[in-house]
Parts: sequence; C-alpha cells; structure tokens
Amino acid sequence: DLYNFRRIGPDTKVYGVIGQPVSHSKSPVVHNQAFKSVDFNGVYVHLLVDDIASFLKAYSSSDFVGFSCGIPHKEAALTCCDEVDPLAKSIGAVNTILRRQSDGKLMGYNTDCIGSISAIEDGLRSSSHPSSVRCTSASPLAGKTVVVIGAGGAGKAVAYGAKVKGAKVVIANRTYERALEVAEAIGGRAVSLADLESFHPEDGMVLANTTSVGMQPNVDETPISKYALKHYALVFDAVYTPRVTRLLREAEECGAVTVSGSEMFVRQAYEQFEIFTGLPAPKELYWEVMSKY
Ligand code: ATR
Repeated sequence: DLYNFRRIGPDTKVYGVIGQPVSHSKSPVVHNQAFKSVDFNGVYVHLLVDDIASFLKAYSSSDFVGFSCGIPHKEAALTCCDEVDPLAKSIGAVNTILRRQSDGKLMGYNTDCIGSISAIEDGLRSSSHPSSVRCTSASPLAGKTVVVIGAGGAGKAVAYGAKVKGAKVVIANRTYERALEVAEAIGGRAVSLADLESFHPEDGMVLANTTSVGMQPNVDETPISKYALKHYALVFDAVYTPRVTRLLREAEECGAVTVSGSEMFVRQAYEQFEIFTGLPAPKELYWEVMSKY
C-alpha cells in the first residue's frame, strides 16, 4: 500500500518527506493513494535526512518537486527556501516545500498551523453545548489559555495559530530560552517544562504537545504528569504514532476532551496535496486512508 502508485515514467513527479527519524511518517501512504485516486502522475517517498540544507543543494537538479519537512527540520527548512509564504514567515517554520517549475526556486509554506488549529477548534466545538456554537462565529480558542509544549517548528505553528485566534498563549519547553524566544515573538508567556507541573492560573485550559515525547517506540513517555492534567479541558497531542499516546490516555482518564495527532496530520496533509498538485484535495480519501493505519 505504501507505494501504491501509477506506473513511473520520465514525466513522474517525485515528492518526499524529509525527517530524522522518518520511518514512522504516514505521508507516503496517504499522498500516494491520493495521487493515484485523481490520476496524478506523482510518487511520494520517505527521505531519511540529517542535514536538510545539504540535501536540497545536492538534489537541486533532480526530479524532486516537493517535500514535507518533519522532525527536526522545520525551522532550518525556512532558511533553505528562496521564497517563503507570509504565514510560514510569521510562524518561523516551513513544513511544505514546492520547487516552482518555471524557475526551479524553492517555495516554502506551512500547513501545520491550519492543520493543528482546526483540529483543536473542532475538538472544542464538539465538546461545547450546541447553543453556544450557534450564538457565535468567533473561534472557540478566543480568550482561552493555550499551553504549548515544545518550541520547535510544530510548537511555533500551534502557538502562532492560537495567538491569531485570540488565545492567551503559554510556551513550555525543556530548554527555557527557546520557549522565551517563541513567547517574545508572538506576545505570549514562557515557562520551563519543570514549572509546568505547578502552572495552573485557571482551570479549563487547552494543552498542546508538539514535541516527539511519547512517539513510537517511546510510548511510555509523557511530557507532563497526570496530576497536572486536571487543569485542562482539552488535550491535543501532535504525535500520531501511536494514535492514542500515554498523554491522551491519561488526559481522557482525567476527563479532558482529547484530540489525536492524526486529526492534525490528515488536515495538514490534504492542504499539502493542494500545494503539491494545484488540484483540489480528495479530503474524504485522506480520512479513509488514515483510518486504516
Ligand atoms: P519540530 O520542528 O518537529 O517541532 P524540533 O525543532 O526538533 O522539531 O523541536 C522539538 C521540540 O521537542 C523542542 O521543543 C524540544 O525541546 P528542546 O528545545 O529542549 O530541545 C522538544 N523535545 C524533544 N525531545 C524532548 C524530550 N525528550 N523531552 C522534552 N522535550 C523534548
């Protein structure tokens, strides 16, 4: 199923996910099946890459026309692009690169922001009383305190998106200085990961883990203790392998609404499809394929 594509020929466009690690990525599965479903002549592969800048330079004249950027390359990817779209520039991270066919320039985009924020918003809407949804068109994130764990590319995308939606954003990170940098850039607050355990200015907050803590094979790890989870109404985990992480399991046990990283993954992936191909994404197919993996 991974490489379930049409016949490859000289005109086939090649895409790939750049990461370290990368084998956990479901991008090849979903994109190859989507390409096939609309008869798009493309193939999408895993690319285990240590240094994204050297990789993009080495393959500058190759058939590779588009990339997804994963751990830990999302911030470096921005500096490798010739042009960066305004949203990605504001976030400070690129997770999608397209080589423009007319002049070979690398164009950088960010689909993590819309993918994560819409997943969290849908989670909040599904948990609220129907009448409160009817009465307002504002984001359910407006006025909420959103605690983002992680200050890498994914953390910046969630933090920026939540801020734009009117949330009070708090960045918690193992390396406090990085949290401070992101907080200063977006107008938020920083706390160290250790201090997050006793951080509870209010109840009913939103928590978003954007680190790889809890990802296979380290499924016993979690970025925050279960005890501290009681202050959160919704917990989102960007990790999607496994679909239910220890963090989400414990959050559910504490009574929080949980949103899996697969909800973000599918949404950011079909936005990528449209950038890669210029065609409308077969969104239902993305959900269907992801539900099988
Ligand atoms: P990405 O661009 O995918 O977000 P990244 O830039 O490598 O990836 O960022 C990874 C984030 O996960 C960082 O915030 C990192 O914390 P540090 O800034 O202290 O490195 C965090 N992270 C990774 N492994 C972690 C761990 N074992 N415990 C806590 N935080 C971790």
